[in-house]
Parts: sequence; structure tokens; C-alpha cells
Amino acid sequence: MPKVTAICGSFRTGSYNQMLLDTLVERAPEGLKIVQADIRDFPMFNQDAESNQPRAVLDAKAVIQSSDCLLLVTPEYNFGVPGALKNAIDWLSRPYGDPTLNGRPLALAGASSGYMGTIRCQLQLRQSWHFFKAPVFAGAELTVAFADRAFDAEGHLTNEGYIGMIDTYLAELKSWLDRKCASVV
Ligand code: FNR
Repeated sequence: MPKVTAICGSFRTGSYNQMLLDTLVERAPEGLKIVQADIRDFPMFNQDAESNQPRAVLDAKAVIQSSDCLLLVTPEYNFGVPGALKNAIDWLSRPYGDPTLNGRPLALAGASSGYMGTIRCQLQLRQSWHFFKAPVFAGAELTVAFADRAFDAEGHLTNEGYIGMIDTYLAELKSWLDRKCASVV
């Protein structure tokens, strides 16, 4: 069964992206497992420390390395990747040649209060993954725009259109990963 490790790019209490990630975990179809890795305790990256990695980084690396795909569920900050997520990617990529991100398939999703969803951030992440020589899921896109109106006070998605989009996204992601896993057996 394909396993996906998800990371949330927002640490905010009441984060729409955490709500979206929770919805993806809940609605994952049978045969697709999604677990979350925690990046909240990552310090600011300093290359001097990369050969003596903090426990939080090593723990997240172990979870990601045991999975078939990394799923980044993230807001867009200033038309780009939030600093905390970029910092985590930099830790996870080092030392040079580390297997955590190299070749690891990537999937993207995000929620924002703006009308463009998180598409500009997603494009930047696609560009970064070129460095890791890894495929990026290019089926259904998942961007929740006007997120402040899409979730209720309990964090449930109330917009039927987005629920349908999530189910399509998960089904296509599963079939993409099923094909990838079958091709490496
Ligand atoms: C934002 N926001 C935002 N939204 C957007 O659609 N495009 C953008 O470029 C930005 N830029 C931006 C920068 C910074 C520093 C903040 C704090 C916010 C708004 C953003 O979509 C909104 O705060 C979301 O609620 C953030 O996601 P979480 O924290 O709810 O998951």
C-alpha cells in the first residue's frame, strides 16, 4: 500500500492548511495511507550544524524515508514558499546527497485566504523538486481559495465543490503511486 508523509507549512493555531491536511488524512481512500511528519521543532538551518543534525530533523527524515511520497500542504506567503517550510526543506536535503528528498515523489496542496489558492507557492516547490531529480504529481490540482469561507468553526470543509476536488485528487494520487510502486517491484 503506498504511504504518503505529509508536512504542514503553517504552525498557526486554527491553520486552514492543517485543516486541509486533516481532511486529506480522513478522506484517504482504502489502500492509501497518509501520516504527518512534524517540523515545528526544527531550528533555523545553519550549514555548520548539518553533520550533527537535531533530533527533530532525524525523526522527520525517518518518517519521510519510510514513505513513497512527500505531500506538502502549505499556505503561500508573499507569493512564495513560507520560510518555516523552506527551512525544513533545507534541513531535510542535507548533507548533500541525503536520500530523504532525492528522488522522492512530491505532491502539493494548499489553502489560502486569497483568490489564487496557493498556486504560486506550488510552482516554486515544483522548481525546487527539479533539484532533487524527483517527479511531482501532475494530476488533479488542489488549491483551496478563500479558505476562511471553506471551513466551519470545527475545522470541517463545508464546501461541496472542494470535497469533490479532494476526493478526485486523492483517487488520482493513489493511482499515480500505485503505478510507481508497481514499477519498482
Ligand atoms: C499571507 N497570505 C497570503 N495569501 C495568499 O493567497 N497569497 C500570499 O502571497 C499571501 N501572503 C501572506 C504572507 C504572510 C506573511 C501571511 C501571514 C499571510 C494570507 C494567507 O493565505 C492566510 O493567512 C492563510 O490563512 C494562511 O494559511 P494558514 O495559516 O491558515 O494555514
